[in-house]
Amino acid sequence: MARPIEWLDGKLRILDQSRLPREQIFIDLDNYPDVALAIKEMRVRGAPAIGVAAAYGIALGASGIETANKDEFLAQLSQVMQAFAASRPTAGNLFQAINRMKKAARGDGVTEIKNSLINEAKRIHKGEITATKKLSQLGAELIKDGFTLLTHCNAGPLATAGYGTALGVIKAAKEQGKKVSVFATETRPLLQGARLTTWELMQEAIPVTLITDSMAGYFMYQKKIDCVIVGADRIAANGDVANKIGTYTLAVLAKESKILFYVGAPTSTIDLSLSSGDKIPIEERSPEEVTHIQGVPIAPEGIRAANPAFDITPCSYITAIITEKGIIRAPYTEGLKGTDSRFS
Ligand code: MRU
Repeated sequence: MARPIEWLDGKLRILDQSRLPREQIFIDLDNYPDVALAIKEMRVRGAPAIGVAAAYGIALGASGIETANKDEFLAQLSQVMQAFAASRPTAGNLFQAINRMKKAARGDGVTEIKNSLINEAKRIHKGEITATKKLSQLGAELIKDGFTLLTHCNAGPLATAGYGTALGVIKAAKEQGKKVSVFATETRPLLQGARLTTWELMQEAIPVTLITDSMAGYFMYQKKIDCVIVGADRIAANGDVANKIGTYTLAVLAKESKILFYVGAPTSTIDLSLSSGDKIPIEERSPEEVTHIQGVPIAPEGIRAANPAFDITPCSYITAIITEKGIIRAPYTEGLKGTDSRFS
């Protein structure tokens, strides 16, 4: 499968996720405002992929700074980092990546710092590839032969610039020889489930059925689903999880239906500086994403619409959080401690 993010000859090549699955268009970005815009417009999306793209974007921004004066350079670099910090407020991996890039901005001279930032961005990318592969293998042990899983939004290679989180676990279960099938929710308003998850699973030859978000309860009640597995955009110290809007609804339905509810995420998504989920900033996006589908209006002109992009699932609804450092169960505060040494 084509790589969703690639550093090529000093430029960032991204697969434009907003055009999938109808068109596979790659865009070469050679300056940081374009990378920040691509993140904002969700051409690159999914918390781990956003972190990786932002790291490369910061490296590009640094390369474009012309002064040889180190203090001046660092002042301009700080503005570059602020542009990324303002792009997608919920994605924990974004802030972890920015913090790592800040720490990497060291060296005797400007050229040395520029090189160090490129190398750190590559390390962040490599780290996500390794972490998502590892967590997927660990998580696959939880999946039984014959399971039907429900997943929400998109948490595959596109969202992670790696192996995937929720979809990574499903892929690894298949690789272990287990027969698995998937229900994918369409995930309004931007349809990442319908457009991206189904596309990725079909390429892996994993049987997938697309459903609307409102059908999940019906299929759970019918006992057609063994397990819900989702990714995460940020995880607080107590185990509360921010994930795509609609995840909380699924978690409540799963608990009521006595169905397992797993969250897969690399430790770069964990933010121990936030004690609980209510401290996680929730991104509010344009109402137009609700009133329109792919540019076509579906509601009366002038209608008021709300568009929170994420919700919080309290840890009490979560059976386990799957990370590359192990599978964590309640009490989450204990289990998560020490997993996020790189965040602050
Ligand atoms: O708004 P998005 O598409 O960037 O949302 C991110 C997601 O795809 C999910 O919430 C996902 O489960 C977490 S990222 C692997």
